This record gives sequence, C-alpha cells and structure tokens, in this order.
Amino acid sequence: MKRDIIAGNWKMNNNKEQTVALINELRPLVKDAKCEVVVCVPFTSIETARKALRGSNIQLGAQNVHWAPKGAFTGEISADMLAEQKVKYVIVGHSERRQYFGETNQSVNARTKAAIAAGLKVILCVGETLEERETGKTATVVTKQTLEALEGIDKLGLKKIVIAYEPVWAIGTGKTATAQDANDTIAIIRKVVRKLYGKNYARSIRIQYGGSMNPGNVKELMAMPEIDGGLIGGASLKAKDFAAVVNDR
Ligand code: 13P
Repeated sequence: MKRDIIAGNWKMNNNKEQTVALINELRPLVKDAKCEVVVCVPFTSIETARKALRGSNIQLGAQNVHWAPKGAFTGEISADMLAEQKVKYVIVGHSERRQYFGETNQSVNARTKAAIAAGLKVILCVGETLEERETGKTATVVTKQTLEALEGIDKLGLKKIVIAYEPVWAIGTGKTATAQDANDTIAIIRKVVRKLYGKNYARSIRIQYGGSMNPGNVKELMAMPEIDGGLIGGASLKAKDFAAVVNDR
C-alpha cells in the first residue's frame, strides 16, 4: 500500500531560530498524521532541523543536491554531505532551479542518480510553464521531462523517487490547477512511468501535486485518484496551515 506524502518546501526561508520555532510549533500539530510528512529546509538549517525533529514523525529534506561526489563545484552540496546530516529526501529539478539556475532535464537526471546512490529519496519535480500550457504543450513537456529525468534509472532506483507535478504558473501565484487538470496531467506522467517500468511500478509510484496547495483546496485535490500527496511552498511556512494540509488531506 502506498502512503500519501505531504512535503513542505521552505525555499529560501527561515534562519536557524525560525527553523526551531516552526518545527516546534508543527510537531504536535501533525503527530497523528496518516501520511508521510517531510520538511525540505535550506542547507544552513539542516543540522538545526535534524535536532529539532528528533523523535517526531516529520522527516528531514533538502532542496537540491549536486551530481558529483566532490570537487571543484563552488556553492554546491554533495549527496554524501546530505546523507551524513541524516537528510532523507531531496528535491531535484524544482522549476525555480530550472528557471533561474539553468537546470536541465540532463542535470536533473544526474542529480537524481547521485542522490539515489547515496541512499537519499528524491522528490523529482516536473511541470509546464503558462506559455506551454496555453499552447497545448503540457503533455509533451511533462512527458519529455519525466522520460529524460528517469533515463538510466532502474526499478530499484525508481522506488526511491516521488514525482512532484508542479505547473509553473501555479507556483506562488495563488492559482491552483483545477483538481481535474492536475489529475489528468499526473495521469500522463504515470503513463510514462508505466511505459518505462511496467504497470505495478506505475501504480505504486507516488506523484504529488504542487502549486498553491493550501488548507482551502487540499481536500478537493487529494480526492483525485491520481494525486498521492502535495509539495507545499508558501503554506508550509505557517505551522497551522501546513498541519491543516497534512491533516485534512
Ligand atoms: P507554493 O505552494 O507557494 O505555490 O509553492 C509550490 C512549490 O513550488 C513547492 O515546491
């Protein structure tokens, strides 16, 4: 049986003090969660978050990882460095990384492989831009992103991956994809997984929706058969809102 997964992506928010405060407020609110709960914190908060999360049902995540084990890659962090800090999940290929930092399907693939090799689980992000949606390219874009991100990853590797479908136009804009649209696009992504790995893997992989998910729309989105969780930005920065998403799903 697969379990839904709700992950908070804090993005570039929260210093150490704020990290402790938010986690301390969140812990009791989600302690009875029926789903997996993850918070993906900035690198500088990882150690603080790990300590603050001790003994809780919330798992620790990071927001990016490099593909090389070590070397001259100024500003980057390796998968082993994250694993050493007891990070369990890492987001790879977020649209903000694709948009502002030149992330490509190929670098997403390389980062994903490195993370898996180090024993991390990956939240692999795909999603179309507004222009792509409006010109009818959604299916083509998410299919290509998924195919290329999974290139060369075997079935064992796939088991370490959660896919997050995040339409770029719905991120931080307050615009949510309709539950039906989100469901339909996730079905397309699942079809790609089926083609690559077969029916059982397609059924068991978890595919989240992300993009302005909040306490007001979580129920409707999570009622859709294809949606197995959420990747939450803005609403993950407020303990009560994030807990409501976790508990109301
Ligand atoms: P928002 O929930 O703020 O729209 O962000 C979604 C997101 O990008 C999560 O990774």
